[in-house]
Amino acid sequence: MTLLPVPKTAIIVVAAGSGTRLGAGAPKAFVGIDVHSILRHALDGVFAASPAQVIVVAPAGYEGEAEAELHAAAGDRRELGRVVTGGQTRQRSVAAGLTALWGDISTVLVHDAARALTPPAVIDAVSAAVTADAGVIPALPVVDTLKKVGRGSVVGAVDRSALAAAQTPQGFPRSLLENAYEAALASGVEYTDDAALFAAAGHEVRYIEGSARGFKITTAADLDRARYLLSASAAPPPRTSPGASPAGIGVRVGVGTDVHAFGGEGDLWLAGLEWPGEPALSGHSDGDAVAHAIVDALLGAAGLGDIGEHFGTSHPEFAGAHADVFLGRTRELLADAGFAIGNVSAQFQGNRPRFSARRAEAEQVLSQALGGAPVSITATTTDGLGFSGRGEGIAVTAVASVIARG
Ligand code: CTP
Ligand code: MG
Repeated sequence: MTLLPVPKTAIIVVAAGSGTRLGAGAPKAFVGIDVHSILRHALDGVFAASPAQVIVVAPAGYEGEAEAELHAAAGDRRELGRVVTGGQTRQRSVAAGLTALWGDISTVLVHDAARALTPPAVIDAVSAAVTADAGVIPALPVVDTLKKVGRGSVVGAVDRSALAAAQTPQGFPRSLLENAYEAALASGVEYTDDAALFAAAGHEVRYIEGSARGFKITTAADLDRARYLLSASAAPPPRTSPGASPAGIGVRVGVGTDVHAFGGEGDLWLAGLEWPGEPALSGHSDGDAVAHAIVDALLGAAGLGDIGEHFGTSHPEFAGAHADVFLGRTRELLADAGFAIGNVSAQFQGNRPRFSARRAEAEQVLSQALGGAPVSITATTTDGLGFSGRGEGIAVTAVASVIARG
């Protein structure tokens, strides 16, 4: 074990939120951006900055996963990191992180794991700017024209030159921050961020320039933006040889189809869901033609062969397996080959089941099996034509995009 000098700065990385607005079926910090999770990317940034104690605040029950991400990101700085369990609100999660500070720490940075692509230079600039009596936040000018609104009408203008959008990490002198947190917890007030809580205790907060890459991953669109930024920066330089990716970014697409006849045993499995009372499809596994078409689209996009090669009858371990197993294994195959999943879209043709009422549920199950990649599923009928129109079976077409890591 290497002995590192004890740092004076600590970074509390809050990752204990549930990610309700992202809706990826897992706590947000553990959703994949590419082959790595949001938390892992955030920690890569933290460990690329100057050495600091690193406290990861994890959702209850996810401490082990957080520890694994911490160790993977920390490299030889592993002894600087530890994981604590978060609370019901962000403020409580930060308070939990504060209890783990080492005695020598004099500056504390609080950072949202959700701001996963924050450049290390911003982290270092914030810690350098903290003084004994003032906190520091990174902030960006507001670019949108802002309006005051109420009851469906615009009621006034807002001077945006007097406004800035706050980011993290936010840095503070330790003892003033600890006292401010004690006061906030005693008052029961929930502040919108640490700077507001610190200012409410009567202290000054300064700002430095933030970074466009410090945006918070809140919605699916934010996750897409993070994926795009990573794929663009990971892409190899454009080549002129045959096979070069024309846009110079490492995005590839694949297509997959599957057809199964009705006539299996038990209830139908389709799009990752069980459909009690619906006739089952026949097949080597559960007959879930939607999942199988998606697997082929993903394997095809990555140039990794097809479903028969990886899951066919020569792989009896997949007999009867459901979508989560197929898609989870496909994701692993892609990750091993250096590909992250961009998105998946599939459509099935069939008279039944009636799909729309369970679309959101199906998309969530399939997306979760693919590590949070966006999945959309549509259904259509064929006006009575063909085998699907006669109710003999279901046909599916899927397309998928994958992102090659540099
Ligand atoms: N956070 C936390 N503990 C909580 C709530 C939030 O540690 N009880 C963290 C989140 O993990 C995130 C950061 O605070 O890194 C900013 O919160 P936000 O973006 O709102 O994340 P979530 O609360 O997970 O998302 P949502 O509000 O959509 O559920
Ligand atoms: Mg939240």
